[in-house]
Amino acid sequence: MATALITGASSGLGEEFAWTLAAAGRDVVLVARSQDRLSEMAELLAGATGVSVEVLVADLSTPEGTATVAMRLGNPDHPVDLLVNNAGLGLKKGFLETTVEEEVAALDVMVRAVLVLSHAAAQAMAARGHGAILNVSSVAGWLANGSYAAHKAWVTAFTEGLVSQLKGSGVTATAVLPGLTHTEFHERAQVDAYNDLPEIVWLEPEHVVAAALAAVRRKQVLVTPSVRYGTAMGIVRVLPRAWVRSLARRSRV
Ligand SMILES: NC(=O)c1ccc[n+]([C@@H]2O[C@H](COP(=O)([O-])OP(=O)(O)OC[C@H]3O[C@@H](n4cnc5c(N)ncnc54)[C@H](OP(=O)(O)O)[C@@H]3O)[C@@H](O)[C@H]2O)c1
Repeated sequence: MATALITGASSGLGEEFAWTLAAAGRDVVLVARSQDRLSEMAELLAGATGVSVEVLVADLSTPEGTATVAMRLGNPDHPVDLLVNNAGLGLKKGFLETTVEEEVAALDVMVRAVLVLSHAAAQAMAARGHGAILNVSSVAGWLANGSYAAHKAWVTAFTEGLVSQLKGSGVTATAVLPGLTHTEFHERAQVDAYNDLPEIVWLEPEHVVAAALAAVRRKQVLVTPSVRYGTAMGIVRVLPRAWVRSLARRSRV
C-alpha cells in the first residue's frame, strides 16, 4: 500500500493531512516531537481507517532528528511515495527580541529540514521512478513579515526549482500556500494580533488539505487555497515592493 510521511503531524494541518490520507487508504508515518500526541493519534487513526500507522518522534530543529527522518525516507524496504514537509512554527517575538538560537531553530525546521528531507525523498523516489513532495509554504512568503516570511519565500522558490530538477524522474513537487488557518499555530506563537480578525479571513484545515492534495494529484506546482487569498496574493505580487514593506511595517506580525 502507498505510504505518506507527514512532518508536524501532531496538530493542525499535519493532523488533517494524516486523517485525510489515511481515510483514503494510505499508510502513514507521523513525525513530530510530541510522542504522547502522536501515539494517541496513531491508535485512533489505525482503529478508524485500518491503515498502518508509524510514529517517528523527531525534533527537526536538530541534525539528528532530521537525519532520522531522512533515513526513514531512504528505506527501500518500506518506500514512502508522498512526503509532506509541513512542520513549522511562528516565533513569539520580533527579530530584535528573539535570541539567535530561536531564529536558527526556526530556520532549521522550516528551511534546513525541508531541504534535507526533500533530498532524501527525491533520491529514493527517483530511483523508483515515482513519488511526490508536498511542501507547506504560506502566503506570507509573498509578504515582508520578518524571518518567517523569508523562510516561506524560500520554500516556494525551492519547490519551483525542484520541479525543473525532477523533470523526467517521475517525481513531482508542489507547494501549498495557505493564508490564515485555524490551527494551534497562532496560539503557540502567542500572536494576539489576529484574534480580532473577522471569520472571513480564516481558512479551515480541511479546505487547505483538500486543495493541497488535489494539486498533488494534478501535478500542480503552486496552490493557494481559496479564491480570496488567491486574488489577494495576485494583487500583492504586482504591487511595488515598497508598498508591501510598508504594509508589513504597519502590521508588525
Ligand atoms: N495556521 C496558519 O495560519 C498557517 C498559514 C500558512 C502556513 N502555515 C504553515 O502550516 C504548517 C503547519 O502549521 P499549523 O498551522 O498546522 O500549526 P500547528 O498546529 O502549530 O502545528 C505545527 C506542527 O509542527 C510541529 N513542529 C514544530 N516544531 C517542530 C520541530 N522542531 N520538530 C518537529 N516538528 C515540529 C508541531 O509538532 P510538535 O510540537 O509535536 O513537535 C506540530 O505538529 C507550518 O509550516 C506553518 O508555517 C500555517
